Amino acid sequence: MSSSGKLTELDHVGIAVRDLDAVVEWYEKMFGATVAHRERIESDGVDEALIKVADSYIQLLTPFRDDSPLAKYMEKNGEGIHHVGYRVDSTEEVLEDVKAQGARVVDEHPRTGSRGTTVAFLHPKTAFGTLIELVQE
Ligand code: CO
Repeated sequence: MSSSGKLTELDHVGIAVRDLDAVVEWYEKMFGATVAHRERIESDGVDEALIKVADSYIQLLTPFRDDSPLAKYMEKNGEGIHHVGYRVDSTEEVLEDVKAQGARVVDEHPRTGSRGTTVAFLHPKTAFGTLIELVQE
């Protein structure tokens, strides 16, 4: 396993979609890919399907309620790549470090993500347009 500083792996690419089942079927048909995990993430108002690719995932996401942040995002931006998740050894440590260095964050403190991971989002504003998720397994 090779790594780059505090980023130990590319954990997942988060993709916003309207019809989760249709997109899962498309990945199955096109690539023979299978879903490794499905979860409703109540706090974010999203349903996810994770497709494993080597040690990383494609995280297909769809909002299940209108006031979810992803629903609002999709009203403006439609479907497509939404965020990138980088695996770290300690979400708390990296989050504190980037905050100290002036990065704007979405989550002031680490919280529980899917699969029981510990996650925190950095705001795209100070990350050159990319919504970045730190993921600690
Ligand atoms: Co994610």
